[in-house]
Amino acid sequence: MRITHLLILLLVVALSASLALPAFGADGATTFKAKCAACHGPEGQGKIGPALKGTALTADQINDLLTKGNDAKKPPHKKPLGLSADDAKAVADFVKTLK
Ligand code: HEC
Repeated sequence: MRITHLLILLLVVALSASLALPAFGADGATTFKAKCAACHGPEGQGKIGPALKGTALTADQINDLLTKGNDAKKPPHKKPLGLSADDAKAVADFVKTLK
């Protein structure tokens, strides 16, 4: 009986952990660190790419640049960066929090 309860508990924990995982994928701060910080700096202060903190662009404009690319821009932003729609939105919102 106790073992059964323990197994059910483990199952519930494992299930909720796997349900929680996709949420990490849409975490803007994590995506920024992984995909943007190398060029834009961990605090968005700029490095190879321009500073992003305090950018005049709106979150929508950043989202567009990431998901559609812009031929007028230098690489890597001529082309979409290949983020999922959720990731792009989350990271665009995150960029707007950088001060
Ligand atoms: C390989 C380096 C590199 C990576 C990776 C990169 N960027 Fe850039 N980014 C640049 C460069 C270079 C520019 C300047 C392009 C230009 O002005 O033509 C730029 C420009 C931008 C701009 C426009 C800034 C402005 O004021 O016009 C935004 C917004 C931006 N990047 C966001 C991001 C985000 C968010 C990520 C991560 C998902 C990212 N970038 C990943 C190099 C990079």
